[in-house]
Amino acid sequence: MIKLNYKNTDEMVIGKENGLNIQEEFSAYKDTIAKIIADLNKRKDKPEQWLQWMNLGYNEETIWYVKEFASQVKGKFENILVLGIGGSALGGIAVTEALLKPYWNLLTPEQRNGLPRIFFLDNIDPDSITGLLSILDLKKTLVNVITKSGSTAETMSQFMIVKDLLEKELGSDYRNNIVATTDKKTGILRQISEQEGYKTFVVPDDVGGRFSVFSAVGLLPFALVGLDIDEIINGIKDMDLALKNTDINQNIAAQNALIHYLMDTKKGKNLSVMMPYSSRLKYVSDWYVQLWAESLGKNKDKDGNDVHIGPTPIKALGATDQHSQIQLYNEGPNDKVINFIRVNEFDNNLEIPKIFEYTGIGYLGGKSINQLINAEADSTRVALSDYNRPTITITLDKVDGYNVAQLLYMLEVQTAIAGELYNINTFNQPGVEQAKNYTYALMGRAGYEESAQALNAKMASV
Ligand code: PA5
Repeated sequence: MIKLNYKNTDEMVIGKENGLNIQEEFSAYKDTIAKIIADLNKRKDKPEQWLQWMNLGYNEETIWYVKEFASQVKGKFENILVLGIGGSALGGIAVTEALLKPYWNLLTPEQRNGLPRIFFLDNIDPDSITGLLSILDLKKTLVNVITKSGSTAETMSQFMIVKDLLEKELGSDYRNNIVATTDKKTGILRQISEQEGYKTFVVPDDVGGRFSVFSAVGLLPFALVGLDIDEIINGIKDMDLALKNTDINQNIAAQNALIHYLMDTKKGKNLSVMMPYSSRLKYVSDWYVQLWAESLGKNKDKDGNDVHIGPTPIKALGATDQHSQIQLYNEGPNDKVINFIRVNEFDNNLEIPKIFEYTGIGYLGGKSINQLINAEADSTRVALSDYNRPTITITLDKVDGYNVAQLLYMLEVQTAIAGELYNINTFNQPGVEQAKNYTYALMGRAGYEESAQALNAKMASV
């Protein structure tokens, strides 16, 4: 199981001004936390609670269909092209970057065991889209278009371009190169899929985009590139079981949620840095940024009060960002909680040769890069504690499906618990919808005429 070390948030380590009396706080919040966890687990099966993501590890039917489809198309495609944005892309990117061999798309087909390359288009930069489409042989590409709402302008505009090209290249057979992941019943992509006869997968009801990584949104691309779905599912289930424990002393998601909440509300530290010491986990930070920001950044609490709260997430990468951000973290404002992710065992042991022994870098020879990266994680943690800066270390034994699934699921539960502590709705995103609606208005979507008028008036002055 992954581990959480929060010693460096304790006042005994970083002083009373910046640290918490952890044992006292855990005791004070014992009942509140127990109630939150019990309540989440009670509400998770009820409709409209947006907690169905807690059941995704047990969705045997989807897991079976995903594996079945992946085995049907195995060997037929050279590329998987995922079209999606936000919660419809970030989990897929984070997990494939973590679990596929590094530089997967540059490996030969033999090195990939005949499995396809995978590309995510999660932006609407005309140059990068044109660039990618110019190198993919679309005849040999399976396009997985993912949008829960079925109407997101970024995703659907990409899809319109790609569908048009596919049809031009493949004639009426183009449908075999498209699989859509969207709402079961509603939305424009569902309507198009039915009219056109695409193969479809479902984003289940009551699962928000940023909590959808273990639905078909993530599982389908994972299966298509040969990731071990069972290993991922086992990771989720074991973590889910562990996090059902209502005792804060035994529940790492509750511990990290409470520490972040108290650091924000009592100590004024409302920035949450996610800093894995593993390049393979780099995009877990992007995924976490969305999860934490969209879930906790809210203007009203559940009682309708204006609160305008939310800790700001920041992404960083160890050791790279030691040479870019750590100066600020050590000596700038003491307003952050820094989450390190540390990996015990890397897949490779990379020795540094014993050369240049007569110079000042001779000490590195005979050590390994593995030692070096973890020494840097340890030394940065200690240096930050010298400056009384709170840090938390999440440790994974390995970067594999089991551990990465545990990590993501733990962070999801942590976010849900933090949302309850802040007393806000963790699962809505009116701020995202507002910008989406303005985009529809600007681009002339029917039904948005009034917004367009208001927007045009405002644009002159904003
Ligand atoms: O988490 C969310 O709800 C958002 O980030 C959505 O995932 C994102 O806006 C994309 O939405 P959709 O899947 O409807 O295209």
